[in-house]
Amino acid sequence: MRDHQLKVVVFTVLTVLFLCYSFVLYFKDYQETVPADALAQKGKDIWQQKNCGSCHQLYGLGGHLGPDLTNVYGKREQPYIEAFLRTGTTVMPNFHLSDSEINALIAFFKYTNTTGVADPRSFTKHLDGTISQQSSSVR
Ligand code: HEC
Repeated sequence: MRDHQLKVVVFTVLTVLFLCYSFVLYFKDYQETVPADALAQKGKDIWQQKNCGSCHQLYGLGGHLGPDLTNVYGKREQPYIEAFLRTGTTVMPNFHLSDSEINALIAFFKYTNTTGVADPRSFTKHLDGTISQQSSSVR
């Protein structure tokens, strides 16, 4: 009987702690270190709507079918990126993006390239379980 009570107490305490932690993280004041301009923000929205993150990572987080694209703007020429977005490849789908959507995505890649690096080993872990990158490691 005592064993059972102990289990209930432990379960209740863990549940309450989990809910408190979720609540704190959810309402934590989040600010982008470098705010995205309107075009980059539009690109970010397209990124989310088309679910590019299911195959690609940004800042080291996301799907692993395609490469991490955080610094793709720094590594590749713009026409190369445009070609992928315009036609896809045998393994990457063609999303039939309009010119303005392609421009917005490229502005978004420009933004990610200046705000972070792909390598998760460069992240700083905080006590509350969140992560950030040192500005010195940003290219
Ligand atoms: C079904 C998985 C998948 C989805 C969804 C996807 N991609 Fe890709 N993407 C890939 C793969 C795989 C590659 C590598 C293809 C290759 O080299 O032929 C790639 C390559 C790329 C490249 C070239 C990267 C490089 O350095 O060579 C860019 C840019 C890109 N994707 C952007 C996007 C964007 C933007 C979206 C959303 C609109 C998107 N992808 C959605 C799978 C995906």
